[in-house]
Amino acid sequence: MKTTTATFKKAKQSGEKITMLTAYDYSTAKLEDTAGVESILVGDSLGMVVLGYENTLSVTMEDMIHHSAAVARGAENALVVTDMPFMSYQTSVYDAVVNAGRLIKEGHADAVKLEGGVKFKEHIRAIVDASIPVMGHIGMTPQSVNAFGGFKVQGKSIEDAKRVIEDAKAVEKAGAFAVVLECVPAALAEYITEILSIPTIGIGAGSSCDGQVLVYQDMLAMYSDFTPKFVKKFGNIGESMTASFKKYCEEVKSGEFPATEHTFKIDDEVMKAITEEN
Ligand code: KIV
Repeated sequence: MKTTTATFKKAKQSGEKITMLTAYDYSTAKLEDTAGVESILVGDSLGMVVLGYENTLSVTMEDMIHHSAAVARGAENALVVTDMPFMSYQTSVYDAVVNAGRLIKEGHADAVKLEGGVKFKEHIRAIVDASIPVMGHIGMTPQSVNAFGGFKVQGKSIEDAKRVIEDAKAVEKAGAFAVVLECVPAALAEYITEILSIPTIGIGAGSSCDGQVLVYQDMLAMYSDFTPKFVKKFGNIGESMTASFKKYCEEVKSGEFPATEHTFKIDDEVMKAITEEN
């Protein structure tokens, strides 16, 4: 059954945890969808794990549309949420609505996600008023990496924790259907989850959140440049891929691959006629 924003609402009420993973291409989206992942995030983390940038700031609308459309083709049941990249909404409320619309129309997303709380409440409200579901994202917001002075846990001091709480309330009031809490202390995430009526989706925010999200290359050990503390490795696919690539190289070099079963046949008569002619 297709996951919708109503499914998120129901899960918050029933206490059933929501599952979300990132994907950036058709094949991965299809695998996650088949596994029952309820929501797929086309995260701007693609800038790092797919495109090899050191942060998410260089990701463009075109990048997001391209990958979102591929994911949407592979996601039959999962709710596809696509990130609004850096500078696609910060510039104005108008830009926010236009670019959110492009992610839906051209990227075939079901919903969009944007980073920031109090400062972006008008942007969220305007996008929601345009009938586009919005997922908020507060706490450690990677598009503000330069303002934060690095990827740092947010909400540890009284003042900072109050700011994160105000952001959560603002996102909810602006009409978001859910909010990602990234890198906030578990007890603070638990408190925010209690006071909000919309589901919280945690990443580095403890087990009390209403759902969890991870970058799939992190949980499969496919991206080794940087592994945050909150990542659990659910598989060692990176190692398995490297071993398979090595084996392929060895077999091509030795002539073991391709074998007869991987080749196409031609009638001896045809070959005879051709070789005699030349
Ligand atoms: O871009 C992304 O993958 C994200 C998750 C880390 C929540 O925003």
